[in-house]
Amino acid sequence: MFLAAPKQSQTSDRPLDLPLDLFQAIADLKKEMNAVILAHYYQDPDLQDIADYIGDSLGLSQAAVNCQADVIVFLGVHFMAETAKILNPDKLVLLPDLDAGCSLADSCPPDRFAAFKAAHPDHLVISYINCSAEIKALSDIICTSANAVAIVNQIPADQPIIFAPDRNLGRYVMEKSGRDLLLWDGACIVHEIFSERKLIDLKLIHPQAEIIAHPECEANVLRHADFIGSTTGLLKYVQKSDRQEFIVVTESGVIHQMQKAAPHKKFIPAPPTSNCACNECPYMRLNTLEKVYLAMKNRTPEIILNESIRQAALKPMQRMLAMS
Ligand code: 13P
Ligand code: SF4
Repeated sequence: MFLAAPKQSQTSDRPLDLPLDLFQAIADLKKEMNAVILAHYYQDPDLQDIADYIGDSLGLSQAAVNCQADVIVFLGVHFMAETAKILNPDKLVLLPDLDAGCSLADSCPPDRFAAFKAAHPDHLVISYINCSAEIKALSDIICTSANAVAIVNQIPADQPIIFAPDRNLGRYVMEKSGRDLLLWDGACIVHEIFSERKLIDLKLIHPQAEIIAHPECEANVLRHADFIGSTTGLLKYVQKSDRQEFIVVTESGVIHQMQKAAPHKKFIPAPPTSNCACNECPYMRLNTLEKVYLAMKNRTPEIILNESIRQAALKPMQRMLAMS
């Protein structure tokens, strides 16, 4: 599948009168605005370091539910900030770069998905959180990579299920649950770029290393993994494993927290098919420290949602939170 890379933001090229110490300026604004900064593990290390909470998609949703601040600054991609807004309609939710989308969410357009759902009226729709608010509104239950298997396991065995939008996570859930799921044919460009051939070569160079992978990877890569889990799952695993070396098959941003949590261990990013840094999510990396500062100072760009879509998207989110 080919999907266009995200547009470069306009703001990055503009000469700006920025404060010298952006870290301090952001901390000051945070206090002034009563803001909380939530960040995903795939953000740039500098952005992870200014966050009040860093997590995977499930942890970030749970943090958004319990949030007492007036403003949520979301350092992640659009569907994540949108999820925070679904859960907090009265709060200002800022996303430093509105172009921070997601190839997986884009692979499931609402009109086509509505037709797919209508063609299978007896199916329950379980959607991975990496989708738009419109897709959430068409779903019965949301899941994340951390709880997808557990959620499918709670559905009666005779209930047919549509699983969208990630075919790789869907295939992994089918294998783990033994359920037959009707899969939407979507995927993530970052997790499909890993090369099985190069992974095998790397393992030969580091025979003691454990291979740890995210379930958005393709089956031919996942079959080499010693452990498969969400970003939080991978982070916890490297802390408890007695191995000293890990080949990390997901977006390389998560290695920042792994190094902090286990500084004596070695983390080797898995190689993509090309020689570029394609294992960095080009959408996640659109957010920068400068854009965070500007978003907070100007209270924009903010996430705005149609209220009927928000209410429809809230129900499957609440079901997920109750089942997690
Ligand atoms: P998790 O945050 O559930 O690990 O998912 C990773 C991802 O691709 C987020 O975009
Ligand atoms: Fe989307 Fe993949 Fe980037 Fe996650 S890593 S935000 S699924 S494109």
